[in-house]
Amino acid sequence: MSDVAVVGSFNVDHVWRCDALPHAGETRTGRYSTGPGGKGFNQAVASARAGASTSFVCALGDDLGGQLARALAEADGIALVDQRSEHPTGTAGIYVDAHGRNSIVIGAGANGDLRASFVESQWAVIAQARVVLAQCESPGDAVLVALRIGLDVGATTVLNPAPANADVDVELLVMADILTPNETEFAALLGKHCGVEIDPDSLAATDSATLHAHCRNLLPQGSVVITLGAEGAFVSHAAGQLRGDDLALYRVPAYPATPIDTTGAGDAFSGALAASLSQLEQPFAEHVRFAARYAARSTETAGAAASMPRLAPLGA
Ligand code: RIB
Ligand code: NA
Repeated sequence: MSDVAVVGSFNVDHVWRCDALPHAGETRTGRYSTGPGGKGFNQAVASARAGASTSFVCALGDDLGGQLARALAEADGIALVDQRSEHPTGTAGIYVDAHGRNSIVIGAGANGDLRASFVESQWAVIAQARVVLAQCESPGDAVLVALRIGLDVGATTVLNPAPANADVDVELLVMADILTPNETEFAALLGKHCGVEIDPDSLAATDSATLHAHCRNLLPQGSVVITLGAEGAFVSHAAGQLRGDDLALYRVPAYPATPIDTTGAGDAFSGALAASLSQLEQPFAEHVRFAARYAARSTETAGAAASMPRLAPLGA
């Protein structure tokens, strides 16, 4: 039994902290560290450390990275099931600047190999979760199966449409009860699916009615939670989803933080949101507040999965 089932990627992150991100042709010196990452694993760790019993379905190489994933999952009490791949375990090269901003290059490796048939074979693991959470760092057909299983059994499905350059098909999009893009991902989805071109940097300052209209256009039946970094989050619900005193649209302020590394902050948000949804019956805005606080705290520690705080939702 688990509260949250996460289907997605695991990466070994190789991180260089430098004063500024390197330009093309430039060589810089930075302080190197390595640690666990991948959007799927980061979100599974966030979910587990936010107090939800969590399972994680992924693809790993037959190598040290794969062993690391299994050992770390066990240490956090995460029930990991992996498809063994002949490709190496996923990797990411990450530069972090003095402001905590990052640039990332991903080597998908085994993650690119996660098969829909393997996810289907894990039906029992996914079907007993209250919340099914996935990202777009794994093949679209595998992610689709995960969300479809969630929908079939009446779980809440959460899709984090990241990274921004992922090609998110409409078939996948409509499987999400809740979509959690950041500004860049939201702008990319609006361009692809609605033919609306917007500047991601203008989103935080865009009026709420306009944002709500864009969200309704993009995901007519679901909820959209746009994470806006230091500007907090914007929430838009479909009319049919409203319960009790829920509002159709609102903003949630960011929780104050002094960031040193924002890597994985979006993952912290989605993982904590899923955990909170699986633990507590409360107004949706309270789940979003908890996720915002959780994500803010994760930015105050270096690393991706390693930076997820141990912080349970209030009342859980
Ligand atoms: O979202 C952050 C993650 O993106 C990093 O851990 C890296 O592995 C990439 O997947
Ligand atoms: Na961090």
